[in-house]
This record gives sequence, structure tokens and C-alpha cells, in this order.
Amino acid sequence: MMKASLSLVTILCLCAIRASALDPFNKKFIAVKKADNVTLRCEKATDKAVTWKFEDQPLEPAADIKMEGNNMTLLKLDLDLTGIFTCWSEEQKVDDTYVLLDMSDFISDSPISCTAETFNCTSTISCTMSEKGYQYFRLRNGDDWLKPSSEGKFYLTHTTNPFAEEATPIVVIGEGMSDLNHYFNTSYSFYIRDIIRPGCPRVSVLKKENGSMLDLKPPVTWILPLSYYPLEHEIQFVSRTDGQITQVNYTHSCVGKRRPKKSKNQKKKEEKKKKGHKSS
Ligand SMILES: *[C@@H]1O[C@H](CO)[C@@H](O)[C@H](O)[C@H]1NC(C)=O
Ligand SMILES: *[C@@H]1O[C@H](CO)[C@@H](O)[C@H](O)[C@H]1NC(C)=O
Ligand SMILES: *[C@@H]1O[C@H](CO)[C@@H](O)[C@H](O)[C@H]1NC(C)=O
Ligand SMILES: *[C@@H]1O[C@H](CO)[C@@H](O)[C@H](O)[C@H]1NC(C)=O
Ligand SMILES: *[C@@H]1O[C@H](CO)[C@@H](O)[C@H](O)[C@H]1NC(C)=O
Ligand SMILES: *[C@@H]1O[C@H](CO)[C@@H](O)[C@H](O)[C@H]1NC(C)=O
Repeated sequence: MMKASLSLVTILCLCAIRASALDPFNKKFIAVKKADNVTLRCEKATDKAVTWKFEDQPLEPAADIKMEGNNMTLLKLDLDLTGIFTCWSEEQKVDDTYVLLDMSDFISDSPISCTAETFNCTSTISCTMSEKGYQYFRLRNGDDWLKPSSEGKFYLTHTTNPFAEEATPIVVIGEGMSDLNHYFNTSYSFYIRDIIRPGCPRVSVLKKENGSMLDLKPPVTWILPLSYYPLEHEIQFVSRTDGQITQVNYTHSCVGKRRPKKSKNQKKKEEKKKKGHKSS
């Protein structure tokens, strides 16, 4: 038992290391616009002379490569000089920098889209990022970058009060990188009231007398709210027997539980009436 759990831990750790090694955002990188100049500094270098390598090939000064002390300047950068630059001192690697071509100016439609769902009363916003040709993305709406989940979603938390008018939009910043050493950054801002939509309400009311379920479906159309609220369903049953009318109301509130408000004897002949949100 002990051995089994130990090896499981080992496998998990290896996976984590491999995943982070593949993530190019973990590298020290710099994104440079096409035809701009960039100076790389060999940080942590001692006063010994340094040499540079580009993608493991020794680098010599050239028309577009200037070397000055511990610095190296790439002039009028283009795609052919993007990749990993390393600097070496006495056969030891001292520093490395991943140079990317900054394509932010060429990204037109926002690669970020976000949604939020009301019915299950979570306050989580889920965002996705995609852009043709790009494989790696990260996103933030605060100081810390978020990594995508295994389904490629970024889950943002927010502190917006659902019962008040939203005064300021939520702003997210996203970055993308490609295997071709392209990079972009972009920002996207939105109000929750504009992205919120009803999810599946999953309201099932058990009808006591024969155990069948009444299932509600989410509305087909949704009029954008000007503010948003955690939604509550109310379903009203009206029973008529021999001229006697009995009512039972069910509500489905944000606690995530349904509770009958009042449970009177339900009669066999039943007529249901749904209140609140219309179901088809
Ligand atoms: C890049 O450096 C060259 C040579 O020093 C200079 O002539 C040019 O103006 C610089 N370009 C930019 C965009 O700074
Ligand atoms: C190297 O670059 C840094 C910052 O870019 C600059 O402060 C320093 O003077 C440069 N050194 C040389 C020898 O050009
Ligand atoms: C609420 O909806 C989100 C997004 O669809 C989902 O991931 C989450 O599991 C749901 N939570 C509950 C309690 O149903
Ligand atoms: C994108 O990066 C540039 C340079 O690093 C920065 O000046 C700019 O503010 C960034 N844009 C966004 C939306 O973060
Ligand atoms: C049980 O419920 C189903 C669905 O509402 C209904 O079609 C059926 O007639 C009910 N049966 C009895 C015995 O009430
Ligand atoms: C059910 O709701 C309706 C409308 O809100 C209300 O008039 C009625 O008194 C409620 N019945 C019960 C039993 O709570």
C-alpha cells in the first residue's frame, strides 16, 4: 500500500516537472517587435569574458549582431533571430533568454472570450483563449497569471456584487506564444451583465404521489439583464379536488437545494403551473 502510493506520487511529480518544462512562459523571455533593436544582458556574469550561443550554435558579431562587454544587441530583429540565446563564461552557461517576435499589433479580433453562468449560482467566470497558429496561452485579471485547465479554460474569480449596478468592467490580460516564436499580448474588458447567461437550471421536482419528476429546461432565449442576480426558481403546483384548491410552492435558491415552502396534502388530480422563468 505504502509502495503503491509512493510510486503514484513519483509519477505525479514527474508529470508536473515535464508539464512546466514544456511551458514556454516559464522561460525568461523577451518579445520584440519586428525591425526593433533589442539588447540582451548576460546577467549574473562575472568580469570574465562571455560568449553567446544562439540555439546551441556559437554566435559571432555580424551586421545585425553587436557585442559589447556582457551585452549583445540584435539589430532590426526578424524571425530568423528568434529563439533561445545563451551566454557562457568559462565553459559554463550563465544566462539564457528566449527572444520572440511580438505580433500584438497584428491580432485583430479578441482572442479572449468569457462567460459566466447564473443558474447554479457560482460566481466563477470562465474564459478561453484561442488564436490561429498559437499553442500556449496565459491570462490574468490580477497580479498572478492563470494557467489553463485541462479543458483549456481559465477560471477567474471576482468580487462584483451581483445586487449592485456594475460600475467598472473586469479587465483581463492575455498572452500567447507559438512554436514559431511568435508572441502577442492583448487585453479584454467586459461587464458580467454582458456575458452572463443561464446555464442548465437542473431543477427537478419530485411529485410525491407517483414519484415522477418534473424537469425544467433553461429558456431558449435570454434577454440581456442590465444587472444580474443569482437566479431563484419558483414552481407552483395547484391541485384541485372536489372544488378544494391546494397550493404547493417549490423554490430553488442559491444554496443549491430545493425546499418546499409549505407542504400541504397533495391531491391526485393535479394541475401544474410554473412561475418565474418559463420553460418550453
Ligand atoms: C537600431 O539600431 C541602429 C544602429 O544602432 C539604429 O540606426 C536604428 O535607428 C535602431 N532602430 C531602432 C528602431 O531603434
Ligand atoms: C549593457 O546594457 C545595459 C542595459 O541595457 C547598460 O546599462 C550597460 O551600459 C550596457 N553595457 C555595455 C558595456 O554596453
Ligand atoms: C456551475 O457551472 C460551472 C460552469 O458550467 C461548472 O463548472 C460547475 O461545476 C457548476 N457548479 C455546480 C455546483 O453545479
Ligand atoms: C503588452 O506588452 C507591452 C510590452 O511589454 C506593454 O507595454 C503593454 O502594456 C502590454 N499590453 C497589455 C495589454 O498588457
Ligand atoms: C405519474 O406522472 C406522470 C408524469 O407526470 C403522468 O403522466 C402519470 O399519469 C402519473 N401517474 C399517476 C398514476 O398519477
Ligand atoms: C405560492 O406562491 C404564490 C405566489 O407567490 C402565493 O400567492 C401563495 O400563497 C404561495 N402558496 C404557498 C402555499 O406558499
